[in-house]
Amino acid sequence: MGFLIKRILLLYSILNVMPVHKFIVCSYSHKLTSGSVNWQSPSNIALVKYWGKYGEQLPMNPSISFTLENCNTKTTLSYEKRSLSKASEHKEYEFQVFLDGKREISFEPKIQKFFERVEVYLPFLKNFTFKIETSNSFPHSSGIASSASGMSALSLCLMDMERQMQPDIPECYFFEKASFLARLGSGSACRSLNGPIIVWGEHDAIEGSNNLYGTKYPLKVHKNFSDFQDTILLVDKGEKQVSSTLGHELMHDHLYAEQRFRQARENLSKLIPVLENGDLPAFIEIVESEALSLHAMMMTSIPYFILMKPNTLEIINRVWAYRKSTGSHLCFTLDAGANVHLLYPLGESKTVLKFISNELSELCKNGEFIVDQVGKGAIKF
Ligand code: DP6
Repeated sequence: MGFLIKRILLLYSILNVMPVHKFIVCSYSHKLTSGSVNWQSPSNIALVKYWGKYGEQLPMNPSISFTLENCNTKTTLSYEKRSLSKASEHKEYEFQVFLDGKREISFEPKIQKFFERVEVYLPFLKNFTFKIETSNSFPHSSGIASSASGMSALSLCLMDMERQMQPDIPECYFFEKASFLARLGSGSACRSLNGPIIVWGEHDAIEGSNNLYGTKYPLKVHKNFSDFQDTILLVDKGEKQVSSTLGHELMHDHLYAEQRFRQARENLSKLIPVLENGDLPAFIEIVESEALSLHAMMMTSIPYFILMKPNTLEIINRVWAYRKSTGSHLCFTLDAGANVHLLYPLGESKTVLKFISNELSELCKNGEFIVDQVGKGAIKF
């Protein structure tokens, strides 16, 4: 079947099942020739985890995250109109990626795939030559995934271009579509544009929640959570042995998949009153259970794998012992890696940071950790 026919069929099937048509543009009112746009976008940490997807980057269960403040990616997208005018005359995208000023060819296949996925929604992509310059506030080798902050920053830059070609698009459409595009780059990236708490994936009790893009958590949040801290302990800074993308794929034939998706939905339901009444012990139970369930999925998939390291477990045990002996509300969560995110209220900062320096930093690679907190979202710079 011809490539074009396949794309038309894909488009047709997408249009029939999901309201994505609002993100498809037929023409723009203004022309662009050359320029550059700059966006800074943060990372996020999920409280209820996304693990398992279907179709084009759609989540098997809803997830919810704190947007971070200090861990972010800054991206400058420079663009120049290519000499031929019709997109159809250009067969390939033209772009180069630079990390901290140095060409990073290894990033280009991911961007290529991203452009292929989003071209239906950004029909101008083949009309320009792009230079994507990016830098992270955290070291590349820290083991902190840069895909959430990186894909959301790039999506915002592309939407900025679209807004220059169509200046009347409303602010809410701008962010919804940017999150929609970011999702197509990396699922969790769609939760990185705004803050402080973002939901992605349909949940009956959360108005506006949907599978296509992240939305601000619309319900009441107790002041206990308004200034939450996230200190990231860098346990293992190497490349992950198993990518998130493969991990998601393994959920397709996973024996416990259905139970896991149900558990995540139920945990989000339980989190709603907890976020409202500020019940920290209940918050801790949900968040830690989610982290361990995520890793239990990895350990029980075929093939099975373990991303935690001995020091990850040692940190968890020390956190539990610390909580028991002090009555602190410090808790942990994990991403798809060995690093540990420690969550706690700002009021406990002094004592918790002392505990981290004295008793946990020795378990981190080179004693390193990053102090972060709940943030407001992306900014144009
Ligand atoms: C474990 O968003 O990195 O961090 O959609 O394949 O890019 P892709 O996966 P990704 O998955 C990360 C999942 C997680 C949990 C979460 O952030 O919800």
